[in-house]
Amino acid sequence: MVSRVIPVEDFDLVIFGGTGDLARRKILPGLFRRFISEQMPGEARIIGAARSDLDSDGYRKMIRDAIAEFGGDEKENKDCLERFLAQLDYVPIDAKGEGGWKELAGLMREGRVHAFYFSVAPSLFGDLAERLHKHGLAHADSRIVVEKPFGRDLASAQELNDTLAQHFDESQIYRIDHYLGKETVQNLMAVRFGNVLFEPLWNNHYVDHIQITVAETVGVGGRGAYYDRSGAMRDMVQNHLMQLLCLIAMEPPSRFEADAVRDEKLKVIRALEPVPPHHIVRGQYDATADTASYRDDAEDPKSHTESFIALRTEISNWRWAGVPFYLRTGKRLKARASEIAVVFKDLGHSIFEGDTARHRNILLIRLQPNEGIDLQVTIKEPGPGGMRLVDVPLDLTFADALGEESEAIPDAYERLIMDVIRGNQTLFMRGDEVEAAWRWTDPIIDGWKQRGDVPKTYTTGSAGPEDALMLLHRDERRWLDIRG
Ligand code: BG6
Repeated sequence: MVSRVIPVEDFDLVIFGGTGDLARRKILPGLFRRFISEQMPGEARIIGAARSDLDSDGYRKMIRDAIAEFGGDEKENKDCLERFLAQLDYVPIDAKGEGGWKELAGLMREGRVHAFYFSVAPSLFGDLAERLHKHGLAHADSRIVVEKPFGRDLASAQELNDTLAQHFDESQIYRIDHYLGKETVQNLMAVRFGNVLFEPLWNNHYVDHIQITVAETVGVGGRGAYYDRSGAMRDMVQNHLMQLLCLIAMEPPSRFEADAVRDEKLKVIRALEPVPPHHIVRGQYDATADTASYRDDAEDPKSHTESFIALRTEISNWRWAGVPFYLRTGKRLKARASEIAVVFKDLGHSIFEGDTARHRNILLIRLQPNEGIDLQVTIKEPGPGGMRLVDVPLDLTFADALGEESEAIPDAYERLIMDVIRGNQTLFMRGDEVEAAWRWTDPIIDGWKQRGDVPKTYTTGSAGPEDALMLLHRDERRWLDIRG
């Protein structure tokens, strides 16, 4: 199989916060890979804009170093690297003042897509939008890209949406949730809506429950100050896990188009049941001989912020009524593994005498690592001795199934930035979706604040607090093991 890369049209991409961590780790190395694969046209230009007093040569050096540090094998492609760096410029800019804006406007070329990536604190979004407008850069061909966190509650998200709406139409605003750019997340839609096999079973007649797990082994060290104001609920559940849940649960959109998909996701969020306190478990990791505890990382010995959360919710609609959705995510867990398990119901009756084991079909969608899909099926154990049944996975690991082609899978940011240039909003969150997600999240967070709930401590390297296991045991179910 030969992968087909279709070049995007010419663009000028301005990265506000162009010297920051995200730009150096993800955005620029990602764009370099798109350049190598010839998706980024030779006339395209990337303009870093930040407070630092650099010139374009200084910026190119910074990005050369960043690619050496954070890039993959592609960094060995020296010839391409020099040509890529030649397409970079830099403007020192004052987001809250006038410095640099005239120079920036002077650099933008007409007749091409103008994309502005706000890789800065949300408190600057309004200033940037306003200055873009003032300097004639908020026009029909311009797009803005905004990073999470998009607000910290409903009120602040609404305020941000209102601020951006003063100068940009919703069709020009690209709210990034990088989970939507992951290969397997899109495959989830391909599997659901590209096969006749699954859709008839995708409902409360056949599905017992669904588990969504995003487990990480890293702690919050280095980001403690940000994280302690967020916690796992705001940092992961309100956005990444919610998006996964939407894609699993939504009705088939009439077309794979931005608003058709987003309308269906929004309906799922609106149908989510409130989560009572006994359906939530929060935790904080403890210290080991080599790693700090959550509270040390957060530099607050009394912090009540959670680094782990597990919860049970339901979706009140015809398809899903009565099917629990169990979500869990945490730092410093036993393995890095993000996956979704669709656990089907037991057979009503077994014809195999003496077979008392519980056989269940499970569709396991592995987002990372080892992207792929497993379908657990029951077969006969080989050999003589009667019908002994055994459960085995039908394994579709993309690297095995697709061979070399799977190596060319772009990272989430690469794909999403190219979608911005193409003007495709399917994998971006719409303003009303983000607000609906906060509308569901806010009462949960308010509830534990009012009650003064304190997260349980859990052992670093475990699967989270014991109570998280109980959440399923109470329903006579169990979590799948977290395996990297
Ligand atoms: C980010 C969160 O959005 O996603 C981080 O802020 C988290 O806390 C990260 O570590 C996880 O992303 P990935 O792609 O490594 O699973």
